[in-house]
Amino acid sequence: MESKNSSDNVIRLSDRMPRNKMVRADKPKPDRPPYTRVIAVTSGKGGVGKTNIVANLGYALTRFGKKVLILDADLGLGNLDVLLGLAPKYNLSHVIMGEKSISDIIVEGPGNMLILPASSGIQELTQLTQEQKIQILSELDQMIDTVDIFFIDTAAGISSNVMDFNVTAHEIIVVVSPEPTSITDAYALMKVLSLKYAEKCCKVIVNLAGTNQQGREVFRQLNMVTERFLDMTIDYLGSVLFDANIIQGVKQQKLVSELYPDTQASRCFTDLARKIFTSSPTHVPKGDSNFFWHHLIENNCS
Ligand SMILES: Nc1ncnc2c1ncn2[C@@H]1O[C@H](COP(=O)(O)OP(=O)(O)OP(=O)(O)O)[C@@H](O)[C@H]1O
Ligand SMILES: [Mg+2]
Repeated sequence: MESKNSSDNVIRLSDRMPRNKMVRADKPKPDRPPYTRVIAVTSGKGGVGKTNIVANLGYALTRFGKKVLILDADLGLGNLDVLLGLAPKYNLSHVIMGEKSISDIIVEGPGNMLILPASSGIQELTQLTQEQKIQILSELDQMIDTVDIFFIDTAAGISSNVMDFNVTAHEIIVVVSPEPTSITDAYALMKVLSLKYAEKCCKVIVNLAGTNQQGREVFRQLNMVTERFLDMTIDYLGSVLFDANIIQGVKQQKLVSELYPDTQASRCFTDLARKIFTSSPTHVPKGDSNFFWHHLIENNCS
């Protein structure tokens, strides 16, 4: 994929779309923002806590009255449903096979979050064809305007599936842990986003931090190299502290924010959720957010 597929194109395409051609699933309520925030949560290294962060942030946002939808975009090894103790009958593989539509596979999670589950163990889904990508993105298009926040929980790494989901979103949050390997992999991911996809901005959450100060220090290290070598600005959203209650929650297939709302990780998620909806999005879609996937379609996904 060329840099013409940067998320800048998403906005230009949305902006060009005449408003009377927009199709809305739902008329926005007066207290809802005029556009849906589409946020990809991604990482260079695997296992740094993306799925736990998306699920807990989503839940925290529902506590603030936001309508949240989470797409499990880890197409080969999706496990958001397992984390939430859900047992969905259908998942994205059924949509890709043409057996079900997106609305058939949606399930409700804690806080009435809507979940689009992925399959696990179908290797072919990690290498979608162009037609399959177009099909899935077109189906997702229908869901965008029905919620306030649309999270995309990606797989780790720099595969084209992951990158397509990242650049299609309006905002990218990179999750990194204090391990040196996670920091170098986060930098590698940002380098690809910047050089190959012309992304100009990313947000960063440091997970598994021992202290808030350690979180800020990890961000400082990343910022030093991105400032020096990349044409990209990175913003620090904050950290999530290491908290054994998250591991307890995973074992019980319940969110830590539900099980232990006062534990330190849950407080971090509440603070981050507040920061997300009070901060400006990286890109503000000027018209409706419908059709934002179409940059991939029109540019013929690589
Ligand atoms: N803040 C935290 N404190 C303690 N443990 C954590 C924390 N965040 C995540 N974990 C642990 O790390 C494990 C991996 O988290 P998670 O599955 O969310 O990572 P991931 O980045 O989504 O992984 P993958 O790259 O495989 O999708 C969890 O099962 C949980 O036990
Ligand atoms: Mg995950």
